[in-house]
Amino acid sequence: MTALEYIKQVPKAELHLHIEGSFEPELMFEIAQRNKIEIPYATIEDVNKAYQFSNLQDFLDIYYAGANVLIHEQDFYDLTMAYFKQCAKENVLHAEIMFDPQTHTKRGVEFSTVINGIQRAREEAEKEFGISSLLIMSYLRHLSEEDAFETLQQSLPYKHLIKAVGLDSSEKGNPPSKFQRVFEASIKEGYVPVAHAGEEGPAEYIYEALDLLKIARIDHGNNCLTDPKLVERLVQEKIGLTVCPLSNTALRNVDHIDNHPLKKMLDLGLKVTVNSDDPAYFGGYLTQNYISCIEALDLSLQEVKQLVRHSFEYSFLSEQDKEKFL
Ligand code: HPA
Ligand code: ZN
Repeated sequence: MTALEYIKQVPKAELHLHIEGSFEPELMFEIAQRNKIEIPYATIEDVNKAYQFSNLQDFLDIYYAGANVLIHEQDFYDLTMAYFKQCAKENVLHAEIMFDPQTHTKRGVEFSTVINGIQRAREEAEKEFGISSLLIMSYLRHLSEEDAFETLQQSLPYKHLIKAVGLDSSEKGNPPSKFQRVFEASIKEGYVPVAHAGEEGPAEYIYEALDLLKIARIDHGNNCLTDPKLVERLVQEKIGLTVCPLSNTALRNVDHIDNHPLKKMLDLGLKVTVNSDDPAYFGGYLTQNYISCIEALDLSLQEVKQLVRHSFEYSFLSEQDKEKFL
């Protein structure tokens, strides 16, 4: 069997997916229309033109604007269900889904509206498609620590539905240290900590995520490659890295997929996984991320099997549930 044949059918897990980043233009148009909200695109062609990014901030501005049309519980359900339908097509059997409550509560949408819509889709996906999922509530790092604390408070009635807390949005100038106290408090509430680090920011931010936020997994982490000591530590401590190849090229953190460091990271012994990040914006869901890497980096069947294995091994499933997939 070739690596390409293998990846298309094998059961796999996705560990780095922003649900707001799976918002396809067609669904965005439909929800905008029913909620009577103006969006700056008349056609899919306009959308494609707008989705040309030169860095993370460029993308975030458009991503937050897109999320503006999500108002009702049904909107969050539709958004999440569309992602699960794609998972079912690709045989993604486990997904750890990030959501950004502040993107919505800042606009006056209740926390409960967001999570109830997502939760209803999770339950249906489990029943209809046999897809398991976990939720990662991500704090927006361009906002204040106080704001993150408020979000933590709002989440507490729904603690049983949320596995982990994360840290996303504009990385540069918003180091993990800014959120040390809210992560401490989140851990006390029982949340598992993760954070985006080393996507655009320096290796120093990865050290901070490890030492100050006590993270159990790093989102992206590519920039650890500038620091051999850090690479050694990540290997030794078996820290999972959720790498997002098509995101990295779309946001110009990597100039071309042929130069993506995924294979190098694997060769160094890093616990890398492949993920789609914001697939509606970056040109591909999970399987396409694998396919692009297999083709550009000439990954072997063995290497792809290892990546898939990592996707379960470094998930937050219980050891017992992992066994079902490994
Ligand atoms: N990086 C940081 N924040 C984000 C991203 C990302 O790729 N997607 C959604 N929020
Ligand atoms: Zn991300």
